[in-house]
Amino acid sequence: MPSLTVRQLDEKLKQRLRLRAAKHGRSVEDEVRTILRAAAADTDSFVRDEPSHDPALAHDRPASSKRVLLVIGGGIAAYKSLDLIRRLRERGLVVRVVMTKAAQQFVTPLAAGALSGERAFTELFDPASEFDVGHIRLARECDLVVVAPATADLMAKMANGLASDLATAVLLATDKRILLAPAMNPRMWAHKATRRNLAQLVADGVAIVGPNAGEMAENNEAGLGRMAEPLEIADAAGALLAGATGALKGRRVVVTSGPTHEPIDPVRYIANRSSGKQGHAIAAAAAAAGAQVTLVSGPVNLPDPPGVCVVRVESARDMQAAVEAALPADVAVFVAAVADWRTASVSGEKIKKGGARAPTLALTENPDILASVAQRKARRPKLVIGFAAETEKVVEHAKAKLARKGCDWIVANDVSAESGVMGGDDNAVHLVTAAGVESWPAQSKDAVAAALVARIAEAVAGDGR
Ligand SMILES: Cc1cc2nc3c(=O)[nH]c(=O)nc-3n(C[C@H](O)[C@H](O)[C@H](O)COP(=O)(O)O)c2cc1C
Repeated sequence: MPSLTVRQLDEKLKQRLRLRAAKHGRSVEDEVRTILRAAAADTDSFVRDEPSHDPALAHDRPASSKRVLLVIGGGIAAYKSLDLIRRLRERGLVVRVVMTKAAQQFVTPLAAGALSGERAFTELFDPASEFDVGHIRLARECDLVVVAPATADLMAKMANGLASDLATAVLLATDKRILLAPAMNPRMWAHKATRRNLAQLVADGVAIVGPNAGEMAENNEAGLGRMAEPLEIADAAGALLAGATGALKGRRVVVTSGPTHEPIDPVRYIANRSSGKQGHAIAAAAAAAGAQVTLVSGPVNLPDPPGVCVVRVESARDMQAAVEAALPADVAVFVAAVADWRTASVSGEKIKKGGARAPTLALTENPDILASVAQRKARRPKLVIGFAAETEKVVEHAKAKLARKGCDWIVANDVSAESGVMGGDDNAVHLVTAAGVESWPAQSKDAVAAALVARIAEAVAGDGR
């Protein structure tokens, strides 16, 4: 039998053994004996054929597996986070779970631990893991932190930098990207305090998925506040992890999308036919390339792109305020079909018919969001891109728009009825820059988005960041 002493081991291994021994309250020699005994008894650990085909049961993980730290907050939707663990593991991700005290009122650490394949962490002052400052390790030994459900309380604590329990301490200590899946009563979500906290978190670079609209757990309550479905959250996590090495990694991108609705009275509004498909595709492509994306969207019937923070607005003025709040950014892409005019005054009551004459709508011009950002003196994004929707002389008008607005590029498309662009899935665009005009062939809006994002990545690559 060969003889081996602990002294002969390299320093790194010795240090790890010391930590393990301290954790289990044993001497280093006893720890080594225990490890060897366990290894000898566990023939499986030496003779492994194939990993389990049930992803939720597969404990064998390739060293390259990406790791997700899932923080479960104390909301009704916590039960869905158990399914989320499975969904993340199905994608080959390693999942570690931290639960708040309130979360344990809804689901047990045992269930979360059984599904994740390792014990769920619950205590900040845990002698078994804090002997080597375990909360810092938890915060660092992952590639992405997902908070689901993100309660109003957790969002408030995060926005203010509190670290009063294990979950918040980990969230403050991490240097990894954070994805929040908020879930709360619609009134809590709409509350000004939550709005402020959300704006702060977005400004801090936190990604958001959901919430969705729908019925609440509470009787007779419905609205915006349901946690995004586990599949949506897993998709968003996958997109963020994929983008962690992408060409726009670390860049902040603001995209506007969809139409605006300009109110006439409480039930009527002025709108346009924009579907938001192109803007949403660009936001998704930028996120997939690793950017932190804020998508300011008018009313659309589209799902939120994964890994993107979506700010929903109605009118042009709301959109302008949301864009301002999303700055600073490296790149701004203004795809939304913003109404040029709004009604000069909005009637507080529904306008009735039956008067002597039909009512006349007096219109007033809306703010020019593209020009206002492109012509900023301070905090102007490095690259400001506008979209031009034209029905005739597309390139000519786009060139004039580039000069007039002071932006860097114009992406011009023909939105005449026969082009089928408005609401359709394909687009044929012309990229108009100071260097000239490129006409791209007709392709899907996703393909236009991917090509544009590749060009954006090239353009911002040389700025030394
Ligand atoms: C039955 C019940 C359901 C709750 N659901 C939610 C919820 O969906 N979202 C939320 O923000 N808070 C919800 N709360 C309140 C949170 O549990 C409470 O704010 C708690 O302090 C959150 O703690 P945590 O953020 O540390 O997990 C609920 C409370 C109860 C009693």
